[in-house]
Amino acid sequence: MQKYKILKDVLDFAKNKFYKYDIENPSLDIALLASEALGVSKIQLITKEYVSFDTLNISDESIQKFLYFIELRCKKNSISEILGIKNFYGLDFIVTNDVLTPRPETEILVEKAFNYIIKNNINNINNIIDIGTGSGCIAISIAMLLKKQRLKSLKKIKILACDISEKALEIAEKNAKKHGVLDMIEFQKSNLLENINKKYVENACIVTNLPYIPEGDAKKMSKEVLGGDPSLALFSGKTGTDLYKKLFTDLFQENSNFYTINSCFFEFDSGMNTDNIQKKYYEKLLDDLLKNNQQKNITFFADYSGAERFGKIIL
Ligand SMILES: C[S@@+](CC[C@H](N)C(=O)[O-])C[C@H]1O[C@@H](n2cnc3c(N)ncnc32)[C@H](O)[C@@H]1O
Repeated sequence: MQKYKILKDVLDFAKNKFYKYDIENPSLDIALLASEALGVSKIQLITKEYVSFDTLNISDESIQKFLYFIELRCKKNSISEILGIKNFYGLDFIVTNDVLTPRPETEILVEKAFNYIIKNNINNINNIIDIGTGSGCIAISIAMLLKKQRLKSLKKIKILACDISEKALEIAEKNAKKHGVLDMIEFQKSNLLENINKKYVENACIVTNLPYIPEGDAKKMSKEVLGGDPSLALFSGKTGTDLYKKLFTDLFQENSNFYTINSCFFEFDSGMNTDNIQKKYYEKLLDDLLKNNQQKNITFFADYSGAERFGKIIL
């Protein structure tokens, strides 16, 4: 027999529990969890709090589900982990423990890359390659943006989404299907560029958010970050720069097979602007690798906090 009779009963229970466990945005989290488990909107939470569950036609199972969600949140599972959905660039993405939950700052990477592709260089770009696609959020958002443009010249552009993780690719494909862009994207298992056909890399725009956290930082990270996201999506050697170093060396060293890319947009660790070590590292690395390329144009741009977190390489 259910002990909760009206909406307010479970809401008060949830609020007290979140207060006890120091949950950051209790009202927002409760609204999101209640919407999924109980099927009530934010407005209903306020206007119908004294209405009985019977009248609202909310079953005991739904109440149990809501209480279970509250428990999970108190154990520091993130909302996206609990709901299995994360909004990115206005689209809902399926997320599981096999993929990184997309971060809002990566939307800046998508926007900058898309603006570059569409405004500056559409005729010179054959393909777009998302390396380390995870949930597919970058490739799929770009596909959706391209679809909206409906330009004739866009037809020739192919999107390739690759990842070293097969499980991530499965989720990315599901997301592409969910958003109706499966036919615009090819999925490929690959360790960086290893399995990518050279023809794809020819005049490609690479848009990538590879792992960039130094391995030693694992100890300092909260359960919320470590618990939900796979290590494969987070860490990249001792300084967090191993994967980009390998990618850029493969792309740009003198005798490289892949030297013919058009551009590359990438995200890295800004170090919160205290001392942007990774930016300095990539500036030097790219300068060395591309020293004989007179056309190169390498710039960096900032995230919402003003910290430089993205690189743009135009060749
Ligand atoms: C930081 S996550 C980014 C996921 C998604 N692109 C995003 O922005 O939310 C990095 C992704 O790179 C993948 N990855 C790690 N090492 C890789 C490698 N050597 N080659 C290709 N992908 C790799 C991980 O599996 C993970 O999906």
